[in-house]
Amino acid sequence: MSKKMVFGNWKMNTTYGEAMILASGVERRTEDLEGVEVAIFPPSPWLVSIKEKCKRLHLGAQNMYSKLEGAYTGEVSGNMLKGIVKYVLLGHSERRSVFNEDSALVAAKLKTALNLHLSPVLAVGEEQMMSIDGKTQEEINKFVVDSTLGKMLIASTERVDSDDWRDIVIAYEPVWAIGTGKNATGKYATAIIEALRSIIAQKTSRGIANAVPILYGGSVTRHNAPEFAEAQGVDGVLVGGASLKLADFVAIAEIFNQQTK
Ligand code: PGA
Repeated sequence: MSKKMVFGNWKMNTTYGEAMILASGVERRTEDLEGVEVAIFPPSPWLVSIKEKCKRLHLGAQNMYSKLEGAYTGEVSGNMLKGIVKYVLLGHSERRSVFNEDSALVAAKLKTALNLHLSPVLAVGEEQMMSIDGKTQEEINKFVVDSTLGKMLIASTERVDSDDWRDIVIAYEPVWAIGTGKNATGKYATAIIEALRSIIAQKTSRGIANAVPILYGGSVTRHNAPEFAEAQGVDGVLVGGASLKLADFVAIAEIFNQQTK
């Protein structure tokens, strides 16, 4: 059984001192959890110091630009991140809504990350909760493929080749659940994730689609984590707010570790 993933997206939070304490705590308290892959996504100015101090901790960047270098004031390139992080989060809903990133830009970033052998964590999600009650999985698949969510996944991965899927992680994060305290149910996450997998299968093959890790994100806490750890097809979680609290984030990692055993 492959490892479940528990990823922490710190967003634009923490001072340098707080970041070092939190990262060290995460490393110390999760290093024995063999059934999960834990990674943190701190603000980029802290990455090098955390990398030097926490050698065993997996790191991710919260964003990068699609170009490798040049006159792009304020941006960070994949070239700069290479060797520091394993993962790079792309297309997060806050990037899409606050910074107007469209799927064409996300697709370019995704291809650049793959070329650099950084593992992209591609975030996709719908604005409004979809109505799935009473629908068969086949009906849900048909509905999702034509929805903004399905179109977002297809457009964001338009430059991806079949082989590339080995290196991609998908973070399914319904926008209505991010930072709202209104998490999706495990049943909802399972159904939508299966629909996303069927889209990937159409582009590639069932075997490739089944192997792509798809995480759920959106108001994950230590209290609702068991629901996602048990949910079919959910390969882990991307945690925002709760990843800033050491005890909560560690508890979520322990819950997923328990489930993998
Ligand atoms: P949240 O954020 O857990 O605070 O809802 C998740 C995310 O945006 O990745």
